[in-house]
Amino acid sequence: MRKIFVTGGAGFIGSAFVRLVLAGQPEIHIVDYDALTYAGNLENLSGIDESRHDFIKGDICDRESVLNAVPSDCDAIFNFAAESHVDRSILSADEFLRTNIIGTQVLLDAARAKNVRRFVQVSTDEVMGSLPDGSDEFFTEDSPLQPNSPYAASKASAEFVVRAARETHGLDTVITRCGNNYGPRQFPEKLIPLMIANAMNDEPLPVYGDGKNVRDWIYVDDHCRAIWLAFEKGKAGEVYNVGARNERENIDVVRSLLDALAKPHSLIKYVEDRLGHDRRYAIDPSKAENELGWKPQVTWENGLASTISWYRENQAWVEHIRSGDYRDYYDKMYAARLNASGSTQA
Ligand code: NAD
Ligand code: DAU
Repeated sequence: MRKIFVTGGAGFIGSAFVRLVLAGQPEIHIVDYDALTYAGNLENLSGIDESRHDFIKGDICDRESVLNAVPSDCDAIFNFAAESHVDRSILSADEFLRTNIIGTQVLLDAARAKNVRRFVQVSTDEVMGSLPDGSDEFFTEDSPLQPNSPYAASKASAEFVVRAARETHGLDTVITRCGNNYGPRQFPEKLIPLMIANAMNDEPLPVYGDGKNVRDWIYVDDHCRAIWLAFEKGKAGEVYNVGARNERENIDVVRSLLDALAKPHSLIKYVEDRLGHDRRYAIDPSKAENELGWKPQVTWENGLASTISWYRENQAWVEHIRSGDYRDYYDKMYAARLNASGSTQA
């Protein structure tokens, strides 16, 4: 058995990665290390092969705990653990800087101390800022890092500490930068699951600004396959952008969801915009396609249909989250916006 150390494996993308690796790589044993913050959920790991999966509850900023948890014969650390929601970083940035920067440094130090073969940092296209509306520009691996939100700044800083570990200590590192993921088990603070959950409950769908911001959507399993290939085939020290060439305006995404759920467009409410709202993300994934042999396998239509089915069939999962601290967060983020909003548009 080859051992890998996965952080954030009880979150949305981390748990999809754990499922994919356990299903497709029979020689791999996973040590899954997660603090179980509001976003971490052991229900996300239900039904997996426990014989090849050890779960450890721990904080990536806790140096001693991390050093104890990383196995001595470890092939790779995959760092998914992060504070991941832009809106929360606008409310308060502290936890983003702690987990996303300090936590990454602690993991890099542990990788060196334990002679881990490769360190894979799961980064994001948001580190490259925003592209002009309607332009034919794309993010490439050479795009400058120009983060605009506290979340993006913390993820860009994490990339810098990864780079420093490579340049200073010669650690074998690879960075992936992906666009907006969607799929089962995404926490309903993010656009697609929030809109599905609200629509299923006949609640208003809060669209920021004019709804014309563009995101480049990818099905979560396609992202996870790219991360695995970056580990197996990526060149040390390189960055790989990951995207499915699937740009969509937010309002079109929201309308598609309402149509699929047979709910009226009158549920849409245009609300006050997000501060510093990035206008457009669009990724050129040529390098990952050419060097890793990666291609997305799931079309937008199929991915969206299976995502909606999952949320329909797992309403208990959604309601469990919506009945807890989430309600306070939702009120803080949306109550004033929705009260102020007079604009309902189909
Ligand atoms: P998520 O918020 O669903 O999950 C994050 C996980 O990390 C949770 O399980 C949480 O408990 C854990 N965690 C948080 N702080 C921790 C800490 N201090 N110690 C240990 N565990 C901790 O996030 P996600 O959407 O699954 O994103 C995973 C990674 O992928 C993040 O690094 C994110 O920046 C990156 N990413 C996300 C997207 C996207 O569209 N969601 C796109 C590109 C990159
Ligand atoms: O691009 C990759 C990034 O995608 C990841 O690094 C982040 O972890 C992930 O959260 C995501 O960031 P975004 O800010 O793009 O995702 P979010 O789902 O929060 O918002 C998507 C778009 O929808 C964005 O333009 C804001 C808008 N939006 C979002 C919410 C939650 C709304 O209009 N209304 C909402 O209620």
